[in-house]
Amino acid sequence: MRTVEWHNNGVRMIDQKRIPWELTHVDLSTYQQVAAAITDMTVRGAPAIGAAAAFGMALAAQNSTAQNLAALITDLEQAAHTLKAARPTAVNLAWAVDHMMKLAHNTPHTTVDDLRQALLKEAQRIADEDVAINRRMGEHGANLIKEGFTVLHHCNTGALATVDHGTALGVIRSAFEQGRKFHVLLDETRPRLQGSRLSAWELEQLGIPYHIIPDTAAGYFMQKGEVDLVLVGADRIVANGDFANKIGTYQIAVLAKENDIPFYTVAPTSTIDLTIATGKHIPIEERDPSEVLAPYGNALVPGHFKARNPAFDVTPHRYLTGIVTENGIAYPPFDESLRAIVK
Ligand code: MRU
Repeated sequence: MRTVEWHNNGVRMIDQKRIPWELTHVDLSTYQQVAAAITDMTVRGAPAIGAAAAFGMALAAQNSTAQNLAALITDLEQAAHTLKAARPTAVNLAWAVDHMMKLAHNTPHTTVDDLRQALLKEAQRIADEDVAINRRMGEHGANLIKEGFTVLHHCNTGALATVDHGTALGVIRSAFEQGRKFHVLLDETRPRLQGSRLSAWELEQLGIPYHIIPDTAAGYFMQKGEVDLVLVGADRIVANGDFANKIGTYQIAVLAKENDIPFYTVAPTSTIDLTIATGKHIPIEERDPSEVLAPYGNALVPGHFKARNPAFDVTPHRYLTGIVTENGIAYPPFDESLRAIVK
């Protein structure tokens, strides 16, 4: 099962808004539809939106009526602008779009069709490589999970957040495939409930023991000695090791340090953005307050009540034990280890 793929000359993706109630796909035939699906979180998770955007660029090339290479590149630039604006925080999205534009600009192409095919092939490669990278991260991270551990996890970082297998949840899956027995506590992850809706759905299918917990219970379980390890994903890791991830990650990191619990983020090197020095420069998406007031259309309070809805927060690097990537685990000092691991 792939979260996002090329199908019938278009982009097919799992509709994550419907999970866990039903597994359905949507088929998109324009890059504008792909951008809208990223914004409304039909597809979400940093690597998954990167792959979706790469396919969106291939789709833009396919639909373009340009008769020459220069005109096609102008159309691609428009698509790149729209896709990059779909969500601001996860750098994988911009990374994938910029990568496709570089291919268009820097590779010699003889015809318009030649460039169209090259872009589709590259999008396929990005998607395939994502799965391979996730498996490698799984191998590097699996040893962090010891027999009998309880692992706390935030948001959804599994197959659904990537093309397949996952990042932090991928490490959990790899450890389970290696035969280790352990237990997972899944933060429900208000307001969009990626933990209870998506991560629990994935662990159900894999047969990995878990309990969903309210986000507010993380400290309770840590204080009682019931958490051995925290694993989370990342949407953007900057040069000094500060990183943006799903809202709520920062408070878990602080609690983990207070309770002496190892805290790791798991992310591919495409999530590392060395152009930004510290976390305070990471753009943070603020979403519609209705997601807080009426999650998935279920009103919790009267619609005119006021709410704020930041989708991500930034965890300072001093709370991180290590960063698991496909090239190995980076440890402090991160300003040195991240540069080495990206190379
Ligand atoms: O808003 P979302 O659901 O796209 O946020 C997802 C996360 O924050 C994940 O932890 C992150 O993208 C890493 S997923 C492999």
